[in-house]
Parts: sequence; C-alpha cells; structure tokens
Amino acid sequence: MKITIKALMELAVIVHNHSGIVLTKDKAYLIKDRLQPLMEEYGLSSFEDLISRAKGSSQLINHIVDRMTTNETSFFRDKRPFVLLKEKLLPDWQATRKKNCNQLNIWSCACSTGQEVYSIAITLMEYFKTSLSSHHVKIKATDISDSAIVKASRGLYSNYEVSRGLDAAQLKKYFTWEDPHWKIKDELRSMAYFEKMNLLRPEIEYGKFDIIFCRNVAIYFSRTDRQRLFQSLFACLNDNGALIIGATETLFDINEQLKRVDCGGMAYYCHK
Ligand SMILES: C[S@@+](CC[C@H](N)C(=O)[O-])C[C@H]1O[C@@H](n2cnc3c(N)ncnc32)[C@H](O)[C@@H]1O
Repeated sequence: MKITIKALMELAVIVHNHSGIVLTKDKAYLIKDRLQPLMEEYGLSSFEDLISRAKGSSQLINHIVDRMTTNETSFFRDKRPFVLLKEKLLPDWQATRKKNCNQLNIWSCACSTGQEVYSIAITLMEYFKTSLSSHHVKIKATDISDSAIVKASRGLYSNYEVSRGLDAAQLKKYFTWEDPHWKIKDELRSMAYFEKMNLLRPEIEYGKFDIIFCRNVAIYFSRTDRQRLFQSLFACLNDNGALIIGATETLFDINEQLKRVDCGGMAYYCHK
C-alpha cells in the first residue's frame, strides 16, 4: 500500500505528540510495515482513512503509538549496568542510606517487555541474598506501550527470549517452566509494580528514586524532549541517587546539573 508524504508527516505528528518519538521521512518503510496490519484489523483501506479515524479515537492513537514503539530488549542487556549496580550502586546505597531506612526505590522507566526489570530483580536477589527480606525493595516499571507493559507484568518468556542474556543456572534458579513459557518466580515478580506511562507527559508525578534506569529510549526523542526528560528524571533522583542511561547514549551537553561518574568502563550520572 502506498503512503504519501503528507500522510507520513501527519502520522509522524500524531506519534510525536503522543509519545515524543520522532519519525523522519526515511522511516516510511517502518510506518508502512507496522501500521498496515493495524489498518487491516480496523478494516481501513488507506493511510488517509487511518489518520481521519485516529483524529476521533484515543484508542486508535494508543494502538498507533503502541505499534510504532521499538521494544527491542534482552535480559542483562549490555551487562555492565548490572555489574555496576551490584558492585558499586548497591554498596553505596547501603553505606549512605539514612539510619534505619531500608527502603530502596528503583525505576526502570522504559522497561519494554520487562527483561530489564527482572535483570534488576535478579541482581538485587544476588546482592542481598538472605537479607533481602529485611529491605523494602520496590522496582517501578513503566512503559508507554500497552502491549509491552502487559507482557512485562506477566513475566512469561519464550525459550528464545530467555536464551538472550540468561545462563542455565539463572534460568533454573529464577524461572519455572509453564509450558510453553518460562515464568519468573513470584519472589522476583513481587519486587516490581507495572504502570503504563508516557515519560514526556509533564503533569506526571514521578516519585523519588535511588536508582533510575533510563536506557535506549531517549534516542527516539528530539533534543528538546531529551533535555526535558532528563531534567524531570534528575528532579526525582534522591540526593545520593544514580541515573543509568544506555551504553550508546550520552548526556553530554544535555544537562549541566548532572555529574558523570565513570566506573569500570561504565558511566552513571548523579547530583553534582
Ligand atoms: C528499545 S526499548 C528499551 C527497553 C529497555 N530499557 C532496554 O534498554 O532494553 C524502548 C522502550 O521505550 C518505550 N518508549 C518509547 N517512548 C516512550 C515514552 N514517551 N514514554 C515511555 N516509554 C516510551 C518503548 O515502548 C520501548 O518499550
């Protein structure tokens, strides 16, 4: 099916206004690939029909945004953030937390289908071991994609998905086989709570966090939106908190209030 430049630009505006995701003209193939099946589901025969229907339907807009998100993720993606968590951030949190404060708040703010969340949960389990129950650990897990957040909260993964990042020992220890899926164990699942959230909606009350994972999402935003996002994240980072971004991302020139700390080949950001 053909897509005109005008339709492409209108769809790009809809997606941008509702998610911050920037779609340029060279993404025509992506828009066609991802939205054609949706048009078939809605019985629409042209991109113009899709646009005019979307104007009166927030549900359709949600579906369009959902299809246009890139949910690529894997367990322990890029490995080093989880080593950093275990070897630096958790010991630092224990050393600097206020006396008698056992509350550890972590946020995975574009968690996709949940692999990042459960990688954090496994790292916490491996770090705290038997003392975990004496800590109040909460992982807030959010994403704009309805389908991704539903999958994340179910904690069910295929053989292929668990083969990406988990070793046999971790699989055996932290998952159970429930044909045809691997299910994350309840003790890990219960550390997290899941919410649909658009990170670029300014009215949202984020909360306060000790550690924030914001990886591989800001790359889809404009520079202005990235700046706005990191300013909001910075504002909800506790005094000794740490912000972890994607391996290929940088906050250089984005936020002067944040200090970059290099640690074992991995960087994180904290208050100056
Ligand atoms: C490539 S995945 C990254 C997943 C995970 N953080 C990782 O690094 O493996 C990007 C995620 O960002 C989400 N996303 C895109 N725009 C968003 C927005 N405005 N608010 C919240 N999540 C968004 C997408 O739905 C997608 O699941």
